[in-house]
Amino acid sequence: MALLRSNLTLSLQRNLRLVSPGCRYVSQTATKTVSEFEYDAPSMKTPVPGPKSKELTRQLGEIQNVGAINFFCNYEESRGNYLVDADGNRMLDLYTQISSVPLGYNHPALMKVLSSPSNLSAFVNRPALGILPPENFPEKLTESLLSVAPSGMTRVQNMACGSCSNENAFKAMFIWYKNKERGTSDPSPEETSSCMINQSPGCPDLSILSFMGAFHGRTMGKSDKCCLATTHSKIIHKLDIPSFDWPIAPFPRLKYPLEEFVQENAQEEARCLEEVEDLIVKWRQKGKPVAGIVIEPIQAEGGDNHASPDFFIKLRNIARKHGCAFHVDEVQTGGGATGKFWAHEHWGTDDPADIVSFSKKMLTGGYYQKDELQPDKGYRIFNTWMGDPSKNLFLSEVLNVIRKENLLEEVTRSGKTLLQGLYELQSQYPHLLSRARGQGTFCAIDTLDGVTRDDLLLKLRDKGVLLGGCGENSIRFRPALIFKDYHAHQFLNIFNDVLSCPSVIAASVILGYGYFLMRYHRIPRCTSSQRFRRN
Ligand SMILES: Cc1ncc(COP(=O)(O)O)c(C=O)c1O
Repeated sequence: MALLRSNLTLSLQRNLRLVSPGCRYVSQTATKTVSEFEYDAPSMKTPVPGPKSKELTRQLGEIQNVGAINFFCNYEESRGNYLVDADGNRMLDLYTQISSVPLGYNHPALMKVLSSPSNLSAFVNRPALGILPPENFPEKLTESLLSVAPSGMTRVQNMACGSCSNENAFKAMFIWYKNKERGTSDPSPEETSSCMINQSPGCPDLSILSFMGAFHGRTMGKSDKCCLATTHSKIIHKLDIPSFDWPIAPFPRLKYPLEEFVQENAQEEARCLEEVEDLIVKWRQKGKPVAGIVIEPIQAEGGDNHASPDFFIKLRNIARKHGCAFHVDEVQTGGGATGKFWAHEHWGTDDPADIVSFSKKMLTGGYYQKDELQPDKGYRIFNTWMGDPSKNLFLSEVLNVIRKENLLEEVTRSGKTLLQGLYELQSQYPHLLSRARGQGTFCAIDTLDGVTRDDLLLKLRDKGVLLGGCGENSIRFRPALIFKDYHAHQFLNIFNDVLSCPSVIAASVILGYGYFLMRYHRIPRCTSSQRFRRN
């Protein structure tokens, strides 16, 4: 009891010290360097969702499930880093449509693409790209997607979204694996007949190795749809859907800041790599050989889990050693947010992968591949649209702006400011925040638990900052590439206000007390069904 009392007193003292005026702000307002087209600050008129959003949600609810709708947006009025909602609230958007807006809202360079007469036919006529591409397609692919191709890759396959990019990348790995086994022979009559009734050997028992906490999409788990079988981030994505018996390796659970825990983290990574090799051997013995390994350079949905370049390079070597293709899923990390165009560039190797998939900030989905991963026949990787050429026009312009405005350097700079501010806040509010981490502006911080995280997200939103959660209790930062130091300071000041507000302090003391009871009196944390409801 004495220990409990002193714990509570310490918690109150720490929190009260922080609301004293002298240490209220982490950072002062910085020089304002916003582009001329955007607003200069959040402006809130109602709580979010406001009355208009609520009414629209009711209307849409009569047509669709609206369980995931946050609020309705006014995209016409939104500018740069600021998203305006249907009630006229203007929020600093650090989540950017689940990390998919490269240059903020209504960027003038992208508006110009629409006004050019030579681009109009690409918007009006959406072709079936796999059979009838427009005559300028090779040229447009060269100036957009191929101009940022990862090292060692000269081929790109466009697709529509992240899941279908991964889905087709998996298929490409299976086809490659079987062609490698067959050598120059054609598929046998037994293979061609059995595949039509979902039986082996035509539908072979191959597998893809993925990692606990990974997210590679939500498409289903049977037939040629298999993203969900490699997704292991949240119960709500998986429940009730059939899946495959594929190996799942542990993803390193590192300590942050990484520079301070090099030794422990290296041991943790070695443990995971050993497990990967064991699983590959086990699955081969089970008769379900691993055709490919898929991994995110930073596990995003699963909680912004990082690993070192050494880990990825060793994993890539393990894939090579066991004859597995190595697929790096850059759907969320690609496009510049980590301060390099591809997150895997931080590994410093010129042979990072056999396949790199992308979507989100790239505006179109797809994957790059090595020559040998190219399927041998048409229609093996195919769907009606296979992307959208109008998106390549936008992407070319996005890439021009990134180059002209040195946005990768800007991301590195503003990311440092953001992360430094998060370090300071976590040292001021140790009961609420921990494990600040990030690369570029691709940052995250942990909160006490999922309830605290969700509460903080709502409070931040009502103060005009839009953020997302990831993992069990993390807040993730996914601003656009035009996010500057100025915006980082603006956010940090608002976050500090929220953290020092009396209701958050009171909640943290109560939750801290609950946590104390759980740890010292062994009260179960929460059951999986409770966790599921929270999702
Ligand atoms: C790493 C990763 N892969 C795949 C996907 C799936 O992309 P989509 O939602 O476009 O299908 C996501 C989506 O968040 C992702 O973060």
